[in-house]
Amino acid sequence: MNPTDSASAATRRYHRLDISQPAFWARDFRTRDEVFAQLRAEPGLTWHAPPPAFFPHDEPGFWAVTRHRDIAQISRHPELFTSSLGISLDPMPVEVQRPTTFFLMMDPPQHTRYRRLISSAFTPKQVRRIESQIRDNAAEIVDEFLTDLRSGQPTDFVDSLSRKLPMRTVSDMIGIERSDREGVAYAAEAMFSSSDEEYASLEERATFFMTQFGILHGAGTDLAQRRRQDPRDDLMSAIVEAEVDGHRLTDEEIGAFMVLLASAGNDTTKQTTSHGFKALVDHPAQREWLLEDFDARIGGAVEEFVRWATPVIHFARHAVTDTEVAGTRIRAGEKVVMFYCSANRDETALDAPHIFDITRGPNPHSGFGGGGAHFCLGAWLARMQIRLLFHELLTRAPEVVLGEPEYVHSDFVHGIKRMPVRLA
Ligand code: HEM
Repeated sequence: MNPTDSASAATRRYHRLDISQPAFWARDFRTRDEVFAQLRAEPGLTWHAPPPAFFPHDEPGFWAVTRHRDIAQISRHPELFTSSLGISLDPMPVEVQRPTTFFLMMDPPQHTRYRRLISSAFTPKQVRRIESQIRDNAAEIVDEFLTDLRSGQPTDFVDSLSRKLPMRTVSDMIGIERSDREGVAYAAEAMFSSSDEEYASLEERATFFMTQFGILHGAGTDLAQRRRQDPRDDLMSAIVEAEVDGHRLTDEEIGAFMVLLASAGNDTTKQTTSHGFKALVDHPAQREWLLEDFDARIGGAVEEFVRWATPVIHFARHAVTDTEVAGTRIRAGEKVVMFYCSANRDETALDAPHIFDITRGPNPHSGFGGGGAHFCLGAWLARMQIRLLFHELLTRAPEVVLGEPEYVHSDFVHGIKRMPVRLA
């Protein structure tokens, strides 16, 4: 039993290793994992101070869940660990989190009904339609990237390549007009990374976050209005027609749906592309091996890109009743934060987790979550985009040299902001 068992949250001591401060998150992924490795080696869960917050709050702290098996246990027991009291590590009012996360913050059976509604839009017909569209977009994007590379001008890999396909895919799926794509993508990215000073200082963050949220929400409700009058063959047209529990989705819900898809679908896939490409450039023998039989090997490579990248660092849950994880007693209402970044380097679940290895098998990573009801709904779509984009990229792009990447300062996104690229 953990010595902190008997203490109440108010008197419980914080673990000596501080993972709450921005200074910790300013370190690189590998260095941070040296700390997570020590937390993984602790007998139970560890208790930490809340990070500095831009919304007022009275949260006493959170339990860090750092091992693969503990994350899987929590993710698969929504009856013990609810999403409805918040899923953010940073203290943030539920009223702010709910409209930005939609069914990500619901529990079964309500969650199941909403999730089914969205999934039903991914019919085989839609999938085929999307696949050929993604292939065309990927080819066009690589054309643009090659033009940039050959222009002799400094080229940023993220701007010229990684950020484009996810934005076009999600926009095409939902039905966002071409002219609105950039605005929606920027708002999604900025909301997601709002802890980075480049987007907003701590004092400005609450307002900034809500502004980006308003832009996305408004884009969703505007589009819904247009599709109600003039339906097309896209997800938004299906959503405005659909019913849950005998009622049509409200504007509030449609806005929240838009915010969820735009944020969940954009930055994650973009970051996986940047990290995956960098890893292949750093490991040329693996790139060669992949190209020897691309179709057979890309599936495993994509899983390794997602594990290596871990674009989503964590999600939280709250205990519904007094319960226990890894021998640590968790009291009703306490926050548990599942660090996917740590699970993806857990030596007890993965062989040599600090080595990038596209031949890895099995690869039980937690990049798309720890399993269970909320497992990433867009996993197949992300995999398909990465597969089609890397096919174009690796078969058509010449040898390149990458400069030092500039990382997003965030405790939520493992992101590359900029990465210079030039012809070798
Ligand atoms: C490599 C890219 C991606 C990564 C790493 C990723 C990661 C995640 C993670 C960690 C979760 C939470 C899982 C949990 O709580 O158990 C999640 C949920 C979700 N993702 Fe993704 N995601 C990616 C791409 C996408 C895409 C492309 C879309 C859609 C366009 C998408 C839509 C969603 C949705 C709707 C949820 C909420 C599911 C639910 O609550 O039932 N994701 N994703």
